[in-house]
Amino acid sequence: MVSHIPKAELHCHVEGAASPDLVRKVGARHGVDLTGLFDAKGNFAWHDFTSFLNAYDRAAAVFRTPEDYRDLTFSYFSSLAAEGAIYGEVFISSDHALASGLSYRDYVEGLAQGIRDAEASTGIVGRMIATGVRHYGPDRILAAAETVANEPHPLVTGFGVAGDERMHHPRDFADAFRIAGEAGLGLTVHAGEFGGPQSVRDALDHLGVSRIGHGVRAIEDAGLVQRIVEEGIVLELCPGSNVALGLYPDVASHPFRKLGDAGVRVTVSSDDPPYFGSSIGAEYGWLSENLGLSDAALIATTRTSLEAAFVDEATRARLLASLPA
Ligand code: ADE
Ligand code: ZN
Repeated sequence: MVSHIPKAELHCHVEGAASPDLVRKVGARHGVDLTGLFDAKGNFAWHDFTSFLNAYDRAAAVFRTPEDYRDLTFSYFSSLAAEGAIYGEVFISSDHALASGLSYRDYVEGLAQGIRDAEASTGIVGRMIATGVRHYGPDRILAAAETVANEPHPLVTGFGVAGDERMHHPRDFADAFRIAGEAGLGLTVHAGEFGGPQSVRDALDHLGVSRIGHGVRAIEDAGLVQRIVEEGIVLELCPGSNVALGLYPDVASHPFRKLGDAGVRVTVSSDDPPYFGSSIGAEYGWLSENLGLSDAALIATTRTSLEAAFVDEATRARLLASLPA
């Protein structure tokens, strides 16, 4: 039972947080043909990373207006709060907004309204991390960084890159991360999920990030684990996602605990919850039941998330002070 544990989530893709029901509802609003998107049970249909990314893009494309995006963040942050979360960050993607015919400004305003509404009704605090999509290529990632730097928003506090890590090299994104960093944004990048330890090293060498999305495969290289500890890099671990995508056979085999025991600053998140049968509550529950983390260890995980959050210092201090001693 982890319902009493205060939780925080640093790694969730907002389009990937849309439940099948919400996608059906918003799709119907716009008359979108969703044939083939769902399996017989009504869940998203996918079978490997590539088909997952395709299903994700199709589901994302039903969201077309600021109100659609407001409904998305309101639904996601309300569900986080209902599971005992006090803080959440979502990855947003101007490329997905553009694909839906929305400007970055309208997209962010819609998302921000849902975050504010969820905070007003539940108290949960939320922020956004603008991302470029790796398999769309370095030019689009640079454009995403320029957009976020040129059109600042108080709730957009980070920049990152998601997508297919098997494509391109981090040095190709160095300018984008420099621009975002100079704009005062926190920096994170997906690495060490489908790429091995070298992918994490390359990200650390070239991008100046304080956090790595996943980074789990650092466990395959003791020297890299040592470096991550020494540099204080925080890993946004997503055990349920890793199991669903076939990196590990089950949560009991996931190196969350090994990384933490080695001194790495580990956090837990759900990534794309409805695709992976996950949620923030489920992730904390798996850490407790399958990896034997104590309540104190779970609360320490939340503390690490808040310490690493891309949020102003006053809010961070308030949230940290709300944790049990
Ligand atoms: N975009 C959404 N989910 C992702 C994941 N697990 N890895 C990379 N890119 C993503
Ligand atoms: Zn992710």
